[in-house]
Amino acid sequence: MYTKINEAYEYIHSRYDGKIDIAIILGSGLGPLADEIENPIIIDYQDIPHFPVSTIPGHEGKLYIGTIANKTVCAMKGRFHYYEGHDMDIVTLPIRVFAKLGIPYLFVTNACGGIRDDLNPGQITLISDHIGFMAPSPLRGPNLDEFGPRFKDMTEVYSKQLQEIAKNAAKKTNVSLKEGVYCFFKGPMFETPAEIRALKAIGADMVGMSTVPEAIVARHSGMTTLGISLVTNKAAGLGQSELNHQEVMEAADQAEVNLVKLVKQIIQDM
Ligand code: HPA
Repeated sequence: MYTKINEAYEYIHSRYDGKIDIAIILGSGLGPLADEIENPIIIDYQDIPHFPVSTIPGHEGKLYIGTIANKTVCAMKGRFHYYEGHDMDIVTLPIRVFAKLGIPYLFVTNACGGIRDDLNPGQITLISDHIGFMAPSPLRGPNLDEFGPRFKDMTEVYSKQLQEIAKNAAKKTNVSLKEGVYCFFKGPMFETPAEIRALKAIGADMVGMSTVPEAIVARHSGMTTLGISLVTNKAAGLGQSELNHQEVMEAADQAEVNLVKLVKQIIQDM
């Protein structure tokens, strides 16, 4: 694993060797934030050793390095999902590379299904905590001591301080922002209504197929993380109709203006 991390790191470092403040994973709907990055260096995943090429519509497969609000950001347009068949160490490879690049902050974003009654399509929601025990841990296997300890504390995976900044930024920009617990579901199929009832009973407010592996690895590496979910649909059995990827993409498109506005303000306020 060290070899893979180092080779990917060396390539990105050869393209940009300055300091980077924030890494951002752009989930469905936040892709347009990449267009806000000034003077970007754009790196194709296919040029980065060991980065897989994304296979999902709406996930592009490019790394953008440039500035937003006078901060240097490195944004992934397109991420790697467990359901695509990647092992967890490949899903989270970019995070380890970001840690090695010395990036202190990670913003991780996603589209999700709303489980809690007040989480309707279009709602932007801070991830206050997560439930991820239904999937293998990305930290399973030999511990990468260079990054963090074998048994890492997970009390505050999502930084309270960044959540406060985000809440204030939401007020300033007049964007509705709620918070909730995000639950990882392996996918690629959506959940059944019975599964959603079960997730609700164990304390989940939102459900999605990403984010948790990356946030765990970021925490292991000592990065400070902010998680933002965009609710694109009511979770299975709670809405009117069957779920489909098209609906998710359309809801994400509609909310993207607010999401971009909010994230820019957060970056400015950090
Ligand atoms: N379930 C899982 N992942 C999702 C959903 C959902 O309802 N909506 C968007 N991503």
